[in-house]
Amino acid sequence: MEFVMHLIFLTISSLWFILQMSFYEPPLQRINSTFTNVSSCWELVHSPRKDAVEQTPTVSHINCSTKTNHVAFLKVHKTGSTTIMNIFIRFAIQNKLNIVLSKRTSGYGFNYHGYENTIRRENIVPVPYNETYYILCNHVLYEREAFQSILPKDTVYIGIIREPASHMMSAAAYYSLYHGLVNNAVEKGLPTNNIVSVFLENPFKWNVPTTFVHNRMSFDFGLKRGSFYNETEIERLLKTLDEDFSLIMLMEYFDESLVLMKRILCWETKDIIYVPLNSVQRGAFFVLKPEDIKNLKKWNYADYKLYEHFQKVFWDKVHAEGSDFFLEVQEYKLILKQVEIYCAEVEPDNNLDLEPLYVPKSLWNKEFKMTSQECLDMKVEKLPLLRSLIRIAWNRYVSASK
Ligand SMILES: *[C@@H]1O[C@H](CO)[C@@H](O)[C@H](O)[C@H]1NC(C)=O
Ligand SMILES: *[C@@H]1O[C@H](CO)[C@@H](O)[C@H](O)[C@H]1NC(C)=O
Ligand SMILES: *[C@@H]1O[C@H](CO)[C@@H](O)[C@H](O)[C@H]1NC(C)=O
Ligand SMILES: *[C@@H]1O[C@H](CO)[C@@H](O)[C@H](O)[C@H]1NC(C)=O
Ligand SMILES: *[C@@H]1O[C@H](CO)[C@@H](O)[C@H](O)[C@H]1NC(C)=O
Repeated sequence: MEFVMHLIFLTISSLWFILQMSFYEPPLQRINSTFTNVSSCWELVHSPRKDAVEQTPTVSHINCSTKTNHVAFLKVHKTGSTTIMNIFIRFAIQNKLNIVLSKRTSGYGFNYHGYENTIRRENIVPVPYNETYYILCNHVLYEREAFQSILPKDTVYIGIIREPASHMMSAAAYYSLYHGLVNNAVEKGLPTNNIVSVFLENPFKWNVPTTFVHNRMSFDFGLKRGSFYNETEIERLLKTLDEDFSLIMLMEYFDESLVLMKRILCWETKDIIYVPLNSVQRGAFFVLKPEDIKNLKKWNYADYKLYEHFQKVFWDKVHAEGSDFFLEVQEYKLILKQVEIYCAEVEPDNNLDLEPLYVPKSLWNKEFKMTSQECLDMKVEKLPLLRSLIRIAWNRYVSASK
């Protein structure tokens, strides 16, 4: 009896401890430039973990000296990739690196290098004759030869994927598949409440646009439509991507992915600071029942294969990083939170003269500051920004050709 009571007590107290841990939010405070001892303030924020820290940053991280600036980021649809694109564009602007930009500045899909196509020199703004492209970070279908013919040899390839069922729910809402189905059902006099389930029972029977929900991730990575169910071709794709891509991130582990990217590219924490973009939830229009998921797995066979494979590759890479990886992620999340709070106060017409936010150095980052202007840069609208970048790149090319 006593033993059982003891066990119950232990269970309750450890549950309580775990709950405390998961609810633990460090006290956040604005650290401004007038604050005299920033490091002591930061230590306060961090103290709960201090003694538990295994203070051995990973070797790959210690030996990092030069930032990689030849990067191709494959912007895969509905995977949080707009936020990452913004990271790359800011990096390129700040380091004066040529970005691959589409020639067109308007029209449907102008922000795609290849809407249903891979990269072609005739579709992108040329660079002055003795220069090269550094950063590619927009929508385009991956094709090894095409990419290698345009980007330098030492380019590092990065991509991103998302769990296929959640990808389907997001893309179906964003690209109107769902509304197309509802309209279709209404015309046919069918009930609309379980329309997605009915659709998934036989997706090929329906006349609705499925471009963005039918193995779209695999398609973006270069699988042809005719090969969506071809085991040989899918295996070949996975092999190619294994060889070519240094990292394929998982949207579900966004911050882990970015820390891994930072380490692979030898970048600094400041380079991967972000505020989330284009993530407006349009509401969950439908849920997928177990039976729907079973059907989706058949229909989006290639995407499930892709996700299963690269999920494993991702965690293998993380585990190869060493014991301080998750500590760095934790640190990074804290910094992001501070930046989010700071930047929430900054609007194009408000608080532009706010004191910068100072972020002290840690095991994984140098001291740096964020300014109100940098907040605006992180929140800038993608399309107008691209238009002005295209104009600037053309002007550079034209004046260099004179
Ligand atoms: C930050 O600066 C403002 C004025 O610039 C000052 O009123 C405030 O007390 C400072 N906060 C801290 C934590 O030092
Ligand atoms: C800041 O605080 C740290 C830790 O409390 C202390 O070691 C350091 O001497 C302080 N620096 C200054 C300039 O007061
Ligand atoms: C890191 O750099 C040190 C000093 O240059 C060197 O001895 C060590 O082998 C390097 N480690 C790796 C993994 O490159
Ligand atoms: C490219 O050409 C320009 C003009 O001829 C020259 O000033 C510049 O140094 C060259 N840059 C490189 C990287 O060769
Ligand atoms: C699958 O792809 C392979 C390799 O391209 C091809 O030889 C084969 O005919 C394809 N199978 C089907 C069923 O299309």
